[in-house]
Parts: sequence; C-alpha cells; structure tokens
Amino acid sequence: MSSAFPWWHQAVVYQIYPKSFADGDGDGMGDLAGVRACLPYLRDLGVDALWFTPWYISPQADGGYDVTDHRDIDSALGTLQEAEELIVEARDMGMRTIIDVVPNHVAADHPWFTAAVAAPPGSPERHRFWFRDGVGPDGASPPTEWVSPFGGGTWSRAPGGGDQWYLHLFAPGQPDLNWNDPEVRAEYEDILRFWFDRGVAGVRIDSAAVLMKDPTLPEVGDNVTAGGHPFEDRDEVHEIYRSWRKVADSYEEEKLLVGEVWLDDRDRLARYVGPDEFHTVFGFEVMASPWQLTRLCAAIEDTLRTHERLGAPPAWVLGNHDVTRPATRYGRRDTGFSFADKAWGIETDVQLGRERARAMALVMMALPGSCYIYQGEELGLEEVEDLPRDVLQDPMFARSDGTSPGRDGCRVPLPWQADVPGLGFSIVPPTAAPWLPQPVHWAALAVDVQQHQPCSTLKLYRRALRLRRRLFGHAEPRVEWMDRGPGILAFRRDSGFRCVLNMGGGDHVLPAGSQVALSSDSTMPHDERIIRPDTAVWLRT
Ligand code: GLC
Repeated sequence: MSSAFPWWHQAVVYQIYPKSFADGDGDGMGDLAGVRACLPYLRDLGVDALWFTPWYISPQADGGYDVTDHRDIDSALGTLQEAEELIVEARDMGMRTIIDVVPNHVAADHPWFTAAVAAPPGSPERHRFWFRDGVGPDGASPPTEWVSPFGGGTWSRAPGGGDQWYLHLFAPGQPDLNWNDPEVRAEYEDILRFWFDRGVAGVRIDSAAVLMKDPTLPEVGDNVTAGGHPFEDRDEVHEIYRSWRKVADSYEEEKLLVGEVWLDDRDRLARYVGPDEFHTVFGFEVMASPWQLTRLCAAIEDTLRTHERLGAPPAWVLGNHDVTRPATRYGRRDTGFSFADKAWGIETDVQLGRERARAMALVMMALPGSCYIYQGEELGLEEVEDLPRDVLQDPMFARSDGTSPGRDGCRVPLPWQADVPGLGFSIVPPTAAPWLPQPVHWAALAVDVQQHQPCSTLKLYRRALRLRRRLFGHAEPRVEWMDRGPGILAFRRDSGFRCVLNMGGGDHVLPAGSQVALSSDSTMPHDERIIRPDTAVWLRT
C-alpha cells in the first residue's frame, strides 16, 4: 500500500534469530532454508520487513555477534546464494530485509585478528585492534580495569602474542576494532555497499555507541561527563555514522540505518539521529519501563518528544534476543528491565504477563513510528527459565560465573506444530533435537494450534497488523493524550482512532456508543464496553 511517508516510517519489522526460527535441514539448528519455507507465515502475519541477527560466518562465541566474514553466510545457516534468493523472495512477498552489522568487534578467527596476533607490537596489523602492554611487574595486569557488559574484565592476553593484551569490551572472542584506523573505516563502508547492492533495505547497527575509545585509556571515573566516558558515547563516533549515511544515501531506494544505542540521556541519544546520521534508534526506554501508568506514559511521551524534535519516527520495541521476554517481565513484581537484574528463580505469573504483553503490543502498534516484533512475541512465548545449565551458550552466563542465566531463555526454537517431535521446529523429519530444548507446554502455543483459536495471540497480532496498516498508514505521526481517569492510559491518533490501556486494578467502562475494533483480552468478555485490568482496546469513533 502506498503511503505519504518513506517505507521505514511506520514499518513493522519482524526480528529473526536465524538459529531459532525454523530448521530446514533437520539438524536441530534453524537456517535460511527454514526461513524461506516460512516466508508465507511472515507475509500473512502482516510485517513489512525482516531483520536478521548476524547470519555471517562465525565461531559463535556470542551467538553470531563475533563475525569472521561479513560478506558470507555461516555454513550452519546456509549460503550467500540462499541469502540473496531469500532477499528477493521476501521482497516479492512485500517484505524488505534488514541486516545486522557489527562494527565494534570481529571474531577471534577473523583474518585481521589472526594476522595481528602473529605480528609484532607496533605493527600495522595490530593497529587495527587495541593491543597494549600490560601494567605492573612483567606487564601482568591488564591496561585498565574496565568492566565488560558481559561481566569480568575487558582485556585478555594475546594468544601466543608475547606480552601484550588486547581489548574486548564483550567476550574474549570479540576483539575490539580500532576505528582510528582508516582501513577499518573503509572495510565497513564496503560491507554496507556489499549488502545494499544485494537488495538489503536497511542495517541495524550493533552496539553503536561504543566504537570509539579514549586512546589514553583512562579508568572509568566516578563522575563521567557527557562524552567523557573512555569508551561509551564519545563524540568522535558520530563522524563514522555520518559517512555511513552518505553510503546509504547514495542509493535510490531509501536505505535505513537503525542504531542500537543504549543511553539514558535523551539529548545524547538524540545526537545519533538526523538527516546525516541514523534514521532512527530503538526506543528502549519504553521497553524497559515497568508496568506502571506514570512511568510508561513518561517513557512514551519522552520518546515521542525526542523524535518529534528530530523529525524522525521512533522505533518501538518490546523485546529482542537480548532481553527477558515481555510475557515474563510483565508477570513479575518488578516489571521493568535491566541487564543487571537478570537472575534465576524470580517468581513469575506468566498468564498475567502474557495478558499484559498482548495489551502492550496493541499500545506499541497504535503509536506513530515503526515497531519491531521479536520472533515468538506473536505467539506469546515466555522466557524459558529452566534450561539445563549445560546447554546454555550465552557468554553472559559463563562470564557472570553462572550468577546470571544470560540470554538463552529468549532464544529457544519456535514451536510450529503441537504434535510432532521438536514441536515442528524442523520442517523436514528431524535428525536431531532443537539446539535448545523447548518447554513441553509450548505445544499449546504452537502456530498450528494458535491459528485456529479465535483469541490466540497469533490471531491478535494478525488482526492488529492488518488494522494498523489500514488505520495508520496515512495518519499524521501525532498522538493526543486523553484523560480517562486513574489507571487508564488513553490516546487518540488523528485518524480518529483511540487506544485505551487499563493499568488500574478494576474494570474500566467505556462510554456508551464506543465501538471496539480490537481488544487484547484473551477471554472474549461478554460486554465489550468493559475493559478489564491489564488489557488494551482500539476504538473507532
Ligand atoms: C548487541 C547485541 C548482543 C551482543 C552485543 C555484542 O548488544 O544485541 O546480542 O551480544 O551487541 O555484540
């Protein structure tokens, strides 16, 4: 459907974690053949674009975010030719492709890193990374005490590389690139062209705020000023993205740059978005907001205001491959999200969480901007919290010494069919079990079950996405807040449509004459004028 806005302004983007989406060859690991077989499912869901988390050759030290070759597909997932065919097939079905580009680091077996390890200190090969002598007697201590987001330190001794240490903000298998090296810059601009030339319509930029480091390598002080952190959100990082935007803008079709930028400071975050940088950044503030009216309203309002100022639409998101699934988060006492709070054994009411996640999906889809759906959200999947420890692969688990369960719980293979082994994850007779075990009760959430249930989460998503396209495709990106009493979040779009979310403790009764177009309530209330707690509705005028 044509619209007055560029394609990405209101696009619904479906995030595919390829290892866990669908398995096309029966080995228990998702792959591109699986995705291709399921493209009709995605088309029928009603999404406009697919975002693939890294599908490149990788030793999988961090779920593919350790890339050996950005220009080729991991053999466990398929081939470059299959990716090219997939991009075309998806486009023929009306879905664009967005890829993940990982500029902060490469894999430990990337040819550049192997060459750097083999080269002497001070060599051009080492200049592409952050090799430094250690401190203290015999250089036995790392150059800084920086703490990794994965837990632990950020430096490791170069394997067989003499006395030097190398920097890895994430896992040791992810050596950080030195973005002061012109070869690094040229390489990534070329990678962007490589994929844009193959019909890719956008790029999600991984860990976008941490590329530049203070070359004097100071410790992180107690009172870091904006732009003064040794490796986060340094001012010099923007030059990189300004040149990426020039690459994107050199194509006829508008190529989207969407940044993964985790920053609390809205003004600093806003600096990444604009006509010469990213088109948009993820709205993590809303995702992390607890289930609480004032906090949620403030997060939405804040995101809207920031983007309005920038003339760019927000990119709403409720979850992704890093974050505890919404059906679990919203069913806990603490309904917000922070990586630091990830823990084992938190009491959860998944049924409640699922109702709220359905309601939040309607809120997100009614807001102006694009929205991102992480695979499985449309099935109401919860975080799998009882995976055996010996199957966990996420470095966050290992690097926290097992104190954090890490992120595998939101990466469990999807259930497609209730009554077959592996819940139909393998589309051919499986020779192996899914790479992470699925909960037995996910049979009830399988696609083939949900598509026959009138109130299933899958049906809700399908209806909502269809309606959203019709209603908001031409609407101005404005929201008018409405006062509907305590515990009620309500807003109007200028197509006359309203969204009402009941976050209070009791039923909310709609005024006479209200017409409910869609409700997140999974129990089909007999009186549709009553909005029960933890549900949302869309209303026609
Ligand atoms: C991003 C990715 C995450 C990855 C990290 C390091 O945050 O979303 O999965 O572990 O970057 O690349």
